[in-house]
Amino acid sequence: MTPDRRLLVDTDTASDDAVALLLAAASEGATIEGVTVCAGNAPFDQQVENAKHTLALAGVDVPVHEGARTPLLKDHEYADEVHGESGLGELAPTTDVASADEHAVDYLVRSARENPGEFTLVCLAPLTNVALALAREPEFPDLLDEVWIMGGSAFAPGNVTPAAEFNFWADPDAAHMVCSRLEHTLVDWGVCVRDGTVDAEFFDRVRELNTPLARFFAAALARVRAHSRDLKGTDEAAIPDALTVASLLDPDLVIDSTTVGVAVDEREGLTRGALVVDESGTTLDSRVELIREADGARFERALLETLGRCG
Ligand code: RIB
Ligand code: CA
Repeated sequence: MTPDRRLLVDTDTASDDAVALLLAAASEGATIEGVTVCAGNAPFDQQVENAKHTLALAGVDVPVHEGARTPLLKDHEYADEVHGESGLGELAPTTDVASADEHAVDYLVRSARENPGEFTLVCLAPLTNVALALAREPEFPDLLDEVWIMGGSAFAPGNVTPAAEFNFWADPDAAHMVCSRLEHTLVDWGVCVRDGTVDAEFFDRVRELNTPLARFFAAALARVRAHSRDLKGTDEAAIPDALTVASLLDPDLVIDSTTVGVAVDEREGLTRGALVVDESGTTLDSRVELIREADGARFERALLETLGRCG
């Protein structure tokens, strides 16, 4: 039995982040050991409640650490047109769970220092907390086992502007810093559109499960689905953070990946947050494993298996 992956999850707890947490919680081969929240999709305090609610639903009792409430430098903007005002579609949960006293960045740095080479850092939000951890601890990259990032849009249009995906657009300065200094596996928006998007027929299969997690999934993703109908006329929902976690949990879900160099444009303007990919490896020094193709059917099976659980 391969040793458990010890996960630190940095999130802005939108609907797809929540599904990602459910997948990680249900996995036999991984343990969520801590969750940190970063400014992103929705009002910060609601993101924190979304995380606590989702963890409770998944039966995971771990601390939620509050982190950066704004990007490093840029003005903060939500993505409420995509995920709804709460970030969790039709849901806007409140809990009576207290957040951890320790700030997210302090927690990330301390955890890595005290457990060198142990943790997989899963980045499902703008990279503000991760960039601050890097600034706080220059050895941070060497203290982690693996880093997985959902962000950027490689060889495909973005979802916030034609050039950029939300996580990298929301805090391009953090993305620029992290992507140039932290070796990682990158799940970009392009592969999520191609292989991490579920359709109306899938939602019907989820409804037939008729379990608490299935009902949560449908309610949380209702706004994403409606946004897709409004924007593209298609009844579907991309679940990027869930594809990211599903891919790290199940290597057989990754069909193709390549090692590339990357850079992120941190400047304001048309290409803010744009991900530049160097496939030749000659102009950009960073080392990133870019997922090019994932097994969408296997991803859907993993979702149904998790959502079908009754407790
Ligand atoms: O662009 C998709 C990413 O932005 C996902 O992480 C989603 O949750 C939002 O944070
Ligand atoms: Ca997210």
